[in-house]
Amino acid sequence: MMCAMTTDTPLPATLAKAKAEHKKLGADIARHDIAYHSHDAPLISDADYDALRRRYDALEAAFPALKDAQSVSAKVGAPAAEKFARVRHAVPMLSLGNIFDDAGAGEFLARVRRFLNLSEDAAVAVTAEPKIDGLSCSLRYEGGVLVKAATRGDGFEGEDVTANVRTIGEIPLRITGADKLGFELRGEIFMNHADFAALNRRQEESGGKIFANPRNAAAGALRQLDAATTAARPLHFFAYAWGEWVGPLPAATQSGMVQWFAAKGFPTNSLMQRCSSVDDMLGAYRAIEAQRATLGYDIDGVVYKVDDLALQARLGFVSRAPRWAVAHKFPAEQATTLLLGVDIQVGRTGALTPVAKLQPVTVGGVVVSNATLHNADEIARKDIRIGDTVLVQRAGDVIPQVLGFVAEKRPAGSKPYEFPQTCPACGSPAIREKDEKSGGADVVTRCTGGLICPAQAVEKLKHFASRLAMDIEGLGDKQIELFYREGLIKAPADIFTLRARDAQATPRIAEREGFGETSAANLFAAIEARRRVEVNRVLYGLGIRYVGETNARRLARHFATLEALKACAIAARDTASEARAEIGNIEGIGPTVAEAVIAFFADPRHVALLDDLLTQMTPLPMQEVKRDSPVAGQTLVFTGSLEKMSRDEAKARAETLGAKVAGSVSKKTDLVVAGPGAGSKLEKARELGVKVISEDEWITLQAGA
Ligand code: IVH
Repeated sequence: MMCAMTTDTPLPATLAKAKAEHKKLGADIARHDIAYHSHDAPLISDADYDALRRRYDALEAAFPALKDAQSVSAKVGAPAAEKFARVRHAVPMLSLGNIFDDAGAGEFLARVRRFLNLSEDAAVAVTAEPKIDGLSCSLRYEGGVLVKAATRGDGFEGEDVTANVRTIGEIPLRITGADKLGFELRGEIFMNHADFAALNRRQEESGGKIFANPRNAAAGALRQLDAATTAARPLHFFAYAWGEWVGPLPAATQSGMVQWFAAKGFPTNSLMQRCSSVDDMLGAYRAIEAQRATLGYDIDGVVYKVDDLALQARLGFVSRAPRWAVAHKFPAEQATTLLLGVDIQVGRTGALTPVAKLQPVTVGGVVVSNATLHNADEIARKDIRIGDTVLVQRAGDVIPQVLGFVAEKRPAGSKPYEFPQTCPACGSPAIREKDEKSGGADVVTRCTGGLICPAQAVEKLKHFASRLAMDIEGLGDKQIELFYREGLIKAPADIFTLRARDAQATPRIAEREGFGETSAANLFAAIEARRRVEVNRVLYGLGIRYVGETNARRLARHFATLEALKACAIAARDTASEARAEIGNIEGIGPTVAEAVIAFFADPRHVALLDDLLTQMTPLPMQEVKRDSPVAGQTLVFTGSLEKMSRDEAKARAETLGAKVAGSVSKKTDLVVAGPGAGSKLEKARELGVKVISEDEWITLQAGA
């Protein structure tokens, strides 16, 4: 079915044939409407859906007898869900017609002129603004107070989401200077990319539902029966339209209305422009499209609206859409392709993550050949099988995802995917632990091989050397993979004996591909510099489950040394011991973390690993971060040569003062400390207007802090 019927396929010759196709298409569209609107789980790409819709409209245009009350072209969206009270819209919330190319913009304007009986070159002002990919929502204000918020539903009746919308901070609950007004303001509720990614991370951790895209996540957040859940999932809003309005409108143009919304404290989209020709409209379209990737929220096109409200009133509506507006859609960011296989990646804690191996396909201008499948439950729920044609989506900067499969293209005899029961890297059993909260099986399947699993070992080493742990420059993921493969580094302590062993080896690291004398010398120097590292960093680097940066600090604050922590954790295996009580009473350390720490030291291999490490390096006392220093929370860059202190010292000092030290200058940089010989970084700082100080000024600044 997908893409098979397009507007290019000739129309049927007889009404009977048209009727049959119309009926089938109608049923398909209704099925997709329900999947999209009611289940927040589209079965096909937006582009393919639009193709179905266009074919359907073309059939009705050629055979008007097909139009009846049952026609899906008269319906918008899907019926309101049962769980919320229904709200009848005083003015229907309709949809927009779509255009897909530049010619469509000219045709839209020509249609408007024809309808208004204007000459072909008559000036008609049009606004152009992003089409936000969220959910439309109608907000009713009476006497300046928000009294009702409703989703679109089927366009005539939506769901009452007042309690949930009240939790959206940027939607005013009360507006001033409008106490005599009664009106319905409309706009789009959406979730931005960063919040979407964070929400899915939290969902993944807690075993909750993974959302396919920010739109579905926003819909899920808004349709929570418990408004507190909505409040915990940040939603945003842009006002762009209105419904019923008691009394005269505050402006005579579309753009004037939006300005009024902004003046009343509603968020409005800053990219809206007024255009006075087709060229202007297309210019606005391109300008908005160019910013699409960096906006931080999903948009799927540009909406053109006739600016003059008197003209809008004359133009009115046709079927489900206004004649005075149209959506110029962007090329789809979804595509279908073949699922060639499923790779299982093994993470640091043994989590097995399935990754779809795809026949490379271009999605939104980027070639995609891998996509996440999240976990075993997600694959089973979507029933995705190897050999399927799957729908792939790339939303903003989010990792590509597989949304589902195309039933019509499933090869005969395909079998459900079976998630491996052993680790692909070490062959140990892979199990789903019991989820403490739900009591059911955890969503994550984990390799039980621990330290014997080479995949876990490599990931653990990468973590140990990483920026927030030992922070060894030049020892990145690639180098660790190489050294592990070559047997040069198997455990953390090996990092510190690398130089001595390398001196005897053939080939030496300096002679290996990707290295030279200088880079090898730099690597050894970086390793030497990290023989003394704060204890909390070493602890974090050990990769004990649930011991992230914060818990590592809490434990280091309490125990001061790794030896003390180890002794307590070992003694705490006796549940009646004082040690057990001690570890359980540390501020901020809950029972799950305490158990994980005890379990870690209960494994003699972990104890040996730590003892070996401590023969090679000396943890330093933890430095408490100063939160009231003049650079706390700032991002600093050191450039040029420093004469009075080493780079490492300057960096450590800055971090103690609560600053972050970055390697390059960007808009996020707050301060650059430039020594003699500073070059491009200094130039960049000047260009961006970032504050620059000398080394002496830095010394004074940090000494006073
Ligand atoms: S104007 C009478 N402006 O797109 C039509 N709609 O496909 C009033 N949308 O239902 C809608 N951004 O949910 C308008 N800037 C924008 C929009 C926008 C997103 C949504 C809205 C509408 C759907 C139509």
